[in-house]
Amino acid sequence: MLKTQTEYKTFGERESTYLRTSMTNIMKIRLATPEDLEGMMRIEDLCFGDERFDSETVRAYLARKDAFAVVAVTNEGIVGSAMGTASARLRCGRIGSVAVLRDHRGMGLGNKLLEACEMEFRARGITHFLLEVAVENVDAIKLYEANGYRINDVIGGYYSRGKDAYLMEKDVTMEGRRVRIRPS
Ligand SMILES: CC(C)(COP(=O)(O)OP(=O)(O)OC[C@H]1O[C@@H](n2cnc3c(N)ncnc32)[C@H](O)[C@@H]1OP(=O)(O)O)[C@@H](O)C(=O)NCCC(=O)NCCS
Repeated sequence: MLKTQTEYKTFGERESTYLRTSMTNIMKIRLATPEDLEGMMRIEDLCFGDERFDSETVRAYLARKDAFAVVAVTNEGIVGSAMGTASARLRCGRIGSVAVLRDHRGMGLGNKLLEACEMEFRARGITHFLLEVAVENVDAIKLYEANGYRINDVIGGYYSRGKDAYLMEKDVTMEGRRVRIRPS
């Protein structure tokens, strides 16, 4: 059974990840708090347009015990975010989104945000991860494939305007090593 929030060390309690992005900007990856809502909504607007989560959805990721969000922060504010839900019943973690502001892409932040989500899942005892991604979202598919996710299904009309999604999945050991890829 999934432990309650207070029974395990979450990603945020254990450590934050710091990255140096330039001579002046120190980047930190940490668990998001309700105070981050505005900054996260800015990421939604700028990265997803029509497909963005509304504020109620993001608020739910921040508030629910079976959900969490991580943010990448510089001295300019939030420049990237990722969200996940952890299903105790299915013992699986679902990545809801990963997004990085355009000016900060290609520097490894997407990788770090995804890694932070996986750390949080593992802290909750979850070793099966899945996500949906639009079939034409080449950058994101490459990010996920580079991190060991494999396409296992196509979900027709998953997004608004009938766009299809790939279901991508990954299994790891508790130590974080990849152990099994389901056949596609
Ligand atoms: C997908 C996204 C999060 C990647 O963020 P990022 O910070 O640029 O990713 P990284 O720099 O960590 O790159 C990670 C890997 O992804 C792949 N990748 C990312 N951008 C790529 C690009 N433009 N071209 C080719 N490969 C790319 C590469 O495999 C890369 O690995 P490498 O650094 O070893 O080459 C970013 O493009 C984004 O925010 N897109 C809009 C929001 C979105 O569609 N999110 C995903 C759906 S939820």
